[in-house]
Amino acid sequence: MPHVITQSCCSDASCVYACPVNCIHPTPDEPDFLTAQMLYIDPVECVDCGACVTACPVDAIKHDGSLSPVEQIFADLNADFYAAPRPRPLLAPPVPALQVRNGAQLRVAIVGSGPAAMYAADELLTIPGARVRIYERLQTPFGLARFGVAPDHQRTRGVTRQFEHIVSDPRVDVVLGTEIGAALSHHDLMAEHHAVIYAVGAATDRRLDIPGTELAGVGTATEFVAWYNGHPDHAHRSYDLSGPRAVIIGNGNVALDVARILTMDPELLAGTDIAPHALNALRHSGIEEVVVAGRRGLGQAAFTVPELAGLCSTPGVEVVVADEHLAALPADDPRARILRTARRQTGDRRIVLDFLLAPSGLLGQQRVQAVQFDGRELIPAPDGSMRVKPNGEQRTVPAGLALTSIGYRGRPVPGLPFDEATATVPHDAGRVSGVRGAYVTGWIKRGATGFIGTNKSCAQETVRSLVADYNVSG
Ligand SMILES: Cc1cc2nc3c(=O)[nH]c(=O)nc-3n(C[C@H](O)[C@H](O)[C@H](O)COP(=O)(O)OP(=O)(O)OC[C@H]3O[C@@H](n4cnc5c(N)ncnc54)[C@H](O)[C@@H]3O)c2cc1C
Ligand SMILES: NC(=O)c1ccc[n+]([C@@H]2O[C@H](COP(=O)([O-])OP(=O)(O)OC[C@H]3O[C@@H](n4cnc5c(N)ncnc54)[C@H](OP(=O)(O)O)[C@@H]3O)[C@@H](O)[C@H]2O)c1
Ligand code: SF4
Ligand code: SF4
Repeated sequence: MPHVITQSCCSDASCVYACPVNCIHPTPDEPDFLTAQMLYIDPVECVDCGACVTACPVDAIKHDGSLSPVEQIFADLNADFYAAPRPRPLLAPPVPALQVRNGAQLRVAIVGSGPAAMYAADELLTIPGARVRIYERLQTPFGLARFGVAPDHQRTRGVTRQFEHIVSDPRVDVVLGTEIGAALSHHDLMAEHHAVIYAVGAATDRRLDIPGTELAGVGTATEFVAWYNGHPDHAHRSYDLSGPRAVIIGNGNVALDVARILTMDPELLAGTDIAPHALNALRHSGIEEVVVAGRRGLGQAAFTVPELAGLCSTPGVEVVVADEHLAALPADDPRARILRTARRQTGDRRIVLDFLLAPSGLLGQQRVQAVQFDGRELIPAPDGSMRVKPNGEQRTVPAGLALTSIGYRGRPVPGLPFDEATATVPHDAGRVSGVRGAYVTGWIKRGATGFIGTNKSCAQETVRSLVADYNVSG
């Protein structure tokens, strides 16, 4: 029986290089790596050596025989990936070592301490003698790995053990509670370092431009997540959870996290890293149903298959999708299989995944009472994809809490250029355009997409650019 990659996979590809028979794909050099929702083990080629289990920072790899009933779907998902034959070199491509002139003298400052910063530091530490100083504005390091990842995803949050190991290197110096751009400038950092890597993430969110967003009871998932994870900027917030229904606008993985936290038995969260104020509020919550509303169809939903599988295995929570939406998917689509299986699970609370609803207004006097949507329908496009168009109908969904979950957004960094359209810092392979010594990695470089491990290859590209520039500098 082979090994199987499960839900907590964050796509950092550590397992790829541990596997002696190169049966874990896509590898970072393969074209589908950046779009894959996780990595997959070829069940036919796996020789069950277990090397990948030790390499995985989030305990995502299990032996087939030890999968729990709700994890069985991952055996299918791994096998399905290899249904069509794919070229498989005997060995995974080696990662080329950095060639550095005077590497022992290299001094680099990194701004931020989230996953992108950690992977950049890890890469720099492969250079003998190089030193790294990390500046973090908060008193607690590791960015969204601490303040974003849901508290019930303890295996994923375990990636911070790897980050602790990186910062424990004597060549790394971590300065907490120091905001670059306020306490110190780019100029100040350049006085003591050869280069500065900005890994400041995407601290704010996209705003929904519809009437009613100022009403009490309307908020953003960004703030709600930060609140339940105890982020110091958001600990003062309070949410009225007394109404029976909440509506979440947008259906990415963050929306699923929030829907799960709002509906799961709070006692399952006790003992996790959830903030005590949030646990207390959830224990007194009256919410019975959360509606997650996507503006396109089920086939175009932003959430990933592993996260949907996780959602559908939340104990005591029923996940509901109308037949008309399920019917739009091919019968063998993994999302259809997961949702059909989920129908057997009943619970005291429900998550309704609804589709083809474009938000048009938030209704109420002082407080939100309902969310209004314009209905849409799917139409086939000439290229074979499905488009949406208004169908002239309106839907009003009563709600005591309405959260927008329509994506995170980067903020300008003092002293660096900023592209308002993409909310990123313009760069060329990580080199910031027009600012000597400045580099970017992570969400401020690519925009707010991708998993924790996606930031690893992103940081490696930036460090390669930095080293190439250092090698040719005076
Ligand atoms: C709610 C949520 C849940 C997620 N869950 C998962 C998951 O389960 N699995 C998964 O694989 N991926 C998950 N992701 C994605 C993952 O968290 C991101 O890919 C990753 O955190 C991005 O890394 P980053 O380093 O670019 O940014 P961040 O993690 O945001 O780190 C940026 C850091 O920079 C600091 N900073 C900002 N400005 C300054 C400044 N001026 N000076 C000093 N410090 C500064 C910030 O305080 C922060 O610590 C989740 C994302 C979100 C939003
Ligand atoms: N467990 C995990 O691995 C995990 C957990 C959380 C987050 N993450 C990652 O973090 C990244 C950010 O996640 P996210 O959920 O914040 O963003 P996201 O995946 O980009 O989803 C944003 C959602 O908002 C919708 N939207 C955008 N603008 C809208 C508008 N004006 N009106 C209505 N809906 C609108 C999008 O719809 P359209 O699709 O129609 O544009 C989409 O459903 C993602 O890459 C995600 O995978 C991973
Ligand atoms: S168990 Fe061994 S052979 Fe199988 S995927 Fe993991 S490393 Fe590769
Ligand atoms: S998290 Fe990394 S090591 Fe673990 S299964 Fe996913 S890609 Fe492999």
